[in-house]
Amino acid sequence: MTTAAAKAPAVTKEQAEAIYSKGLEGIIAGETAVCSIEQGGLWYRGYEIHDLAQNATFEEVAFLLLEGHKPSSSELARFKAELVSERALPGVVTNFIESMGGNLASGRAVPMDILRSCVSILGHVDPDSQSNEAAAGLRKSKRLLAKIPTMIGHMQNVIDGKAIIGRERGGDESLDMAANLLYMMTGSKPAKEYARVVDVSLILYAEHDFNASTFTSRCIAGTLSDMHGAVAGGIAALKGPLHGGANEMAMEMLKEIMKDCGEGAIGTKAVDDWMQKAFDTKRKLMGFGHRVYKNGDHRAPILHKLGKAVAEKDTKNPGGHAAIKWFLLGEQVQKIMLEKKNIHPNVDFPCGMTYFTMGIPVPQYTPIFVASRVTGWCAHIMEQHANNRIIRPLSKYTGEAPRKW
Ligand SMILES: CC(C)(COP(=O)(O)OP(=O)(O)OC[C@H]1O[C@@H](n2cnc3c(N)ncnc32)[C@H](O)[C@@H]1OP(=O)(O)O)[C@@H](O)C(=O)NCCC(=O)NCCS
Repeated sequence: MTTAAAKAPAVTKEQAEAIYSKGLEGIIAGETAVCSIEQGGLWYRGYEIHDLAQNATFEEVAFLLLEGHKPSSSELARFKAELVSERALPGVVTNFIESMGGNLASGRAVPMDILRSCVSILGHVDPDSQSNEAAAGLRKSKRLLAKIPTMIGHMQNVIDGKAIIGRERGGDESLDMAANLLYMMTGSKPAKEYARVVDVSLILYAEHDFNASTFTSRCIAGTLSDMHGAVAGGIAALKGPLHGGANEMAMEMLKEIMKDCGEGAIGTKAVDDWMQKAFDTKRKLMGFGHRVYKNGDHRAPILHKLGKAVAEKDTKNPGGHAAIKWFLLGEQVQKIMLEKKNIHPNVDFPCGMTYFTMGIPVPQYTPIFVASRVTGWCAHIMEQHANNRIIRPLSKYTGEAPRKW
């Protein structure tokens, strides 16, 4: 047997060690045409986020991300009809959600975990589950996009001990995704203004290049594994409080401050003292900071403004509380963070206050993030499958020197 000369690695060990960066900070780990993010801005396939938040709907943005271009009116109508026709869940998924009622009630299971399992189960019955062909990927993306809000709605019905809303058709066909999601969770059609605020939040959450969950999905897809597995992995990554779970934790933190300091403390030194204690104990304040945006997250002020406008108008909102107090407290916390730490809020901070204002239960905030980010994940999974090379980085070994057993 002849031995071929060893192929030189693309990057030498010395070069790799020189560019090592903990948490991959500043490292380019792949190529994408889906999204571009930098301190100066955020673009989905070339469209800037303020432009999209102002002028597009979530379904248009989902089409842009999944199908690759801005939809014409006939393409959009076709896409929306496809989504509506795919909303209902297979019985096996609904049965699973209903069977988890006790675990959800006891807190043993949380909605993000149930959602992850639902996506897995959906994969077992999807006719395209084992195909990574482009057309199959697109069909699966649309089914996931259509069905995830139904999963969230059914889960909330089970938590509330109500009959399942939209078991046969996945809600109300006349409603767009954001409004239908709120309808399925509550049984009431939401005010237009509420539906639009949720719609914009879905636009803002839809895509963010190589964030932890998308990178997870791409790693899974890069082994040529299937889309449902890659999305389930994305959900597991998004759940963490350093990533998507921060929208729930940000609201929990505000509730904690309000409880510890009292409602009358907003605007007073009591909140400064609470924050100082958090700094002294090196506590991470959720909804603040970002790996890429060190000088502010472009999405945060967009959602803050919309959420605050809803809160200002409505003191008897579905949450049953005077919502504006949360924004006033949130603004004070933001000010202290900026003055003392020079750290800006990320989009999860206003999201918490905004969803709370609308009476959305806190454990559903990150699942709603999934309902949006699934578009980005699927766009990346399809992009990875279309031009694949397995993602397999190196590690910097810090263990024992070689030794005899
Ligand atoms: C988003 C996040 C994970 C980014 O992490 P990162 O890029 O590794 O940021 P760093 O840890 O390098 O932050 C730099 C410094 O700011 C501090 N910092 C960053 N975010 C902070 C926060 N939310 N609260 C308190 N301090 C924070 C870090 O402790 C670090 O301080 P040090 O230099 O004294 O150790 C981090 O900011 C965080 O944990 N935020 C809270 C969770 C959150 O909101 N996640 C949603 C992100 S969209």
